[in-house]
Amino acid sequence: RPGAQRWVPPEADVDGLRAAAPGCRGCELWADATQVVFSTGSDRARVVLVGEQPGDREDREGKPFVGPAGRILDDALEAAGIDPSGVYVTNAVKHFRFQMRGKRRIHKTPGVAHVEACLPWLEAELAAVRPGVVVCLGATAARAVLGREVRVTAERGAPLSRPGPDGEVRVVVTTHPSAVVRLSGKPGFDEAFDALVADLRLAAP
Ligand code: URA
Ligand code: SF4
Repeated sequence: RPGAQRWVPPEADVDGLRAAAPGCRGCELWADATQVVFSTGSDRARVVLVGEQPGDREDREGKPFVGPAGRILDDALEAAGIDPSGVYVTNAVKHFRFQMRGKRRIHKTPGVAHVEACLPWLEAELAAVRPGVVVCLGATAARAVLGREVRVTAERGAPLSRPGPDGEVRVVVTTHPSAVVRLSGKPGFDEAFDALVADLRLAAP
C-alpha cells in the first residue's frame, strides 16, 4: 500500500520523526536518492517554511535549503526580519526526484502521487511543531499544506488558513526561491526577490 503513514511514528516529536524518516518506503523516490532530507529547526519554532523537495545539494548533504535556493531564502528571511533560529524548514516531499541528463541529475517536479504519499510526514511535523503560521514556498508546498491545487500568482500574500489542533493556522503562499534563483543576473530579479520578502514579512512573528 502506497504512502508514508505506516512509517510515521504516532504522536512523535520532531526528533522522533527525524529518526524514523530514513526507513520510509512510502513511494519509490527513496530508491534512487542518496538519503532522506527531513528538516531543520525545533519543535518550538513559531514559523514553518515548506519547500517542494530537496535538490541535488540537499540530497548529498541531507539538509533542506543548503544550495542556491537556500542562499536566496536566507537573504529573503533576513530582509523580512525573520530570525532563522525561530524557523522550522521542511519540504513537501522528503526524497530528491530527478532525471539523468548525461552525468547530471536534473530536478524533476514531484507528482501529485509523491506529494500525497509523503503528506503523513508533513502532517506529523505540523502536529509536533504547532506553528502560528505556515509559509508555502511554491505550488507543490501549497498543494500539500492546503490540500488543493493552488496558483501562486493568484493567491500569494492572501490571508489563507488551514485547520490545526488549536483552531485555524495562518498560511502564506509565496513563490519558490528557485524561481528567484533562475532570474539571477537578469531583469526582474530585484522585483522577484522583493516580492518574496514582502510575502515573508506577512509571516513575521
Ligand atoms: N528547493 C526546495 O524546495 N527544497 C530544498 O530543500 C531545496 C531546494
Ligand atoms: Fe517516503 Fe516521502 Fe521518501 Fe516517498 S518521498 S519514500 S513518501 S519520505
